[in-house]
Amino acid sequence: MLRAAGSCTDEPRPWGPGRATNPSAYATLVQDDRVHSAVYTDPAIFADELSRIFETCWIFVGHDSEIPNPGDFRTRTIGRQPVLFVRGRDGAVRVLMNRCTHRGALVCVEERGAAARFTCPYHGWTYLNTGELIGVPYAERYDDSMAKEDFGLRPAPRVADYRGFTFASLAAHGPSLDEFLGPLAKAEIDIAIDVSPVGRIGVAAGVHKYGYNGNWKLQSENSVDAYHLNALHQSFLDIVRDQMGVDGRAMGTGTSPAVIRSLGNGHVAWDTAPLGMELQFIGSDAAPADWREAYKQQLVERHGPEHARYLWARSAPQVLIFPNLVLISSQIRMIRPIAVDRTEVHLMPVLLEGVPEELNQQRLRGHEAFYGPSGGGATDDMEIFERQTEGFRATVDPWVYLGRGFGRETGRPDGSTAGQMTDELGSRAFLAQWKKMMTAA
Ligand code: FES
Ligand code: FE
Repeated sequence: MLRAAGSCTDEPRPWGPGRATNPSAYATLVQDDRVHSAVYTDPAIFADELSRIFETCWIFVGHDSEIPNPGDFRTRTIGRQPVLFVRGRDGAVRVLMNRCTHRGALVCVEERGAAARFTCPYHGWTYLNTGELIGVPYAERYDDSMAKEDFGLRPAPRVADYRGFTFASLAAHGPSLDEFLGPLAKAEIDIAIDVSPVGRIGVAAGVHKYGYNGNWKLQSENSVDAYHLNALHQSFLDIVRDQMGVDGRAMGTGTSPAVIRSLGNGHVAWDTAPLGMELQFIGSDAAPADWREAYKQQLVERHGPEHARYLWARSAPQVLIFPNLVLISSQIRMIRPIAVDRTEVHLMPVLLEGVPEELNQQRLRGHEAFYGPSGGGATDDMEIFERQTEGFRATVDPWVYLGRGFGRETGRPDGSTAGQMTDELGSRAFLAQWKKMMTAA
């Protein structure tokens, strides 16, 4: 039976001033089928998240196709900590803290570019793109205890790569990236790459950004929430139906055969293959008519017939990698926490190598149509995040109810847990990992 979230109003309030410093209190904020809205609004919890989650987890920093040549760089963040994602003159990819080792200024404020060296504007210390300190103005006033070798840009404590996706962790110790992703999340990343007939993707089409006045977790959870599709995005679906003759509602109904899966460690994915929508998300409509069969044959040769059929049935991943990376349709999405009530989202379209140019153009146009500044979809989501944030101010009943499909999940042989597409399994799995990390000793 559906219990209203309001049924909790008579229970003692688990949250209030002064509780944020007690991690064990977090356990009461995330329950099996509901979450306390303080999780999205309390600045002290946000501060704790930065250290307990963003400075502990593996965080996606960039894709190696963004920095193909020595000196290429991107400025990125891990939580709120600034880093340089850079390919050094030796060809190695590094993640370096974007902080001058003299007095802490950013050494680079450009979002992207190529540089042989980075010169801090404050006093002029200069670093190679490998991080090595090579220039200190008027060095004669330092004594011998100041050795340049000791003052290179600091590398992130751990950096690891999975098929071109670079992750970094600010924690010197912890699970490896391999353990953190696990085979199921890695399989979702594989889809993004393996739908290319040559097994390569390019993330060089640029970045577009949006921001909203709300908590970062609203976007993480929303990225794998299918329950909202037909309601919140109704106007977009209407336009698609009227202009293209395609009814996109089937995926997000309560009887949709599509599936949502918890992959472990807070990672969540949709499996849309049961919808039978062959090549639906790949953008192939724009390709020459005879291309589809040739493409399928290429996939069969690379992956065998069974996996090839699965790839063109999926045709794109839709996966949330805890806590803030999403691969969705033809994009990589990085969710950046700015403040408890401010979030930036960076979207990077993914182009496929080995396909007709028209197909990649179609991917970009499709991306813009839903996610772009004048698109019809992402704007809906941003609006609702801000309405949630406003709504959370009403605290007579502070609970957010996530009970849809609760208790009806099924275990799968691969270790995942599955529910019907519109179940709130994604939020429950994401928040269970949040709780685990926030309460860890
Ligand atoms: Fe960078 Fe002084 S802070 S050179
Ligand atoms: Fe949405």
